[in-house]
Amino acid sequence: MDNFLFIAFPYIALTLAIGVSIYRRLRQPYTYSSLSSEILEKRKLFWGSVPFHYGITLILLAHLLAAFLPGPAAWLLGDQTRRLVLEVTGMALGLYTFFGLVVLIIRRLAPKSLVQAATTYMDGLILFVLLIQIGSGTTIAIFDRWGGLWYLHTAVPWFWSLATFRPELVTVVSLPAFVKLHFVVGFLVILLFPFGRLVHLVMLPLQYLWRPYQVVIWNRRKPDSYVKEVAK
Ligand code: HEM
Repeated sequence: MDNFLFIAFPYIALTLAIGVSIYRRLRQPYTYSSLSSEILEKRKLFWGSVPFHYGITLILLAHLLAAFLPGPAAWLLGDQTRRLVLEVTGMALGLYTFFGLVVLIIRRLAPKSLVQAATTYMDGLILFVLLIQIGSGTTIAIFDRWGGLWYLHTAVPWFWSLATFRPELVTVVSLPAFVKLHFVVGFLVILLFPFGRLVHLVMLPLQYLWRPYQVVIWNRRKPDSYVKEVAK
């Protein structure tokens, strides 16, 4: 089972993520976004989206930086004060992100609302999987002390063994089941990435930097006061 979860499944997830992302970009380019629902509901979107996006961006950056730069990460975590600051920051960011996600889920569940009507099964599945992933990560950060440090000696060698096609799972098989759940669901998030609205992550609207100006014209009767002002 461990062989499937920690070797086969990560490869399946990455292959599907890359393959389906490319296929969808070529075949359905106009679906490559997260259709905005701001027009349907704005208040809860603000209180959910802002904490969720700021929190998850910083947390995923920390996951990636430690994986790609294990040397500097080990140096950062080598000092007790720095380690404590990073540990507490990780917990706070986890709780902040979790709060944002719960608000976003409540917003989509609101019965008979327009937002609920515009929510697909895939949206629901992705939100549920993210809830497990962010909930488990934050629980680990709070209850399993010095996660940043043991991440470097368990997850990072496993990642690199996969990346170099010499899979080695000795550093992860003996971890507690809850921690293993977080690792496996991490790859499930990657697998689901191209199937729903998560793909908007790779859509940077860079063409806005060089596209021609837009002229926006009102297409309705202007208030009399405005017409008089312009006529002066
Ligand atoms: C397989 C890949 C992953 C591994 C090996 C992994 C590992 C870890 C570990 C060891 C921690 C505890 C850090 C600490 O105690 O400070 C953690 C925390 C966390 N993880 Fe992951 N993770 C993975 C993927 C993800 C993904 C894809 C997400 C979100 C979509 C995520 C969200 C979180 C959150 C919210 C926390 C709590 C905040 C923190 O302390 O950083 N993780 N992860």
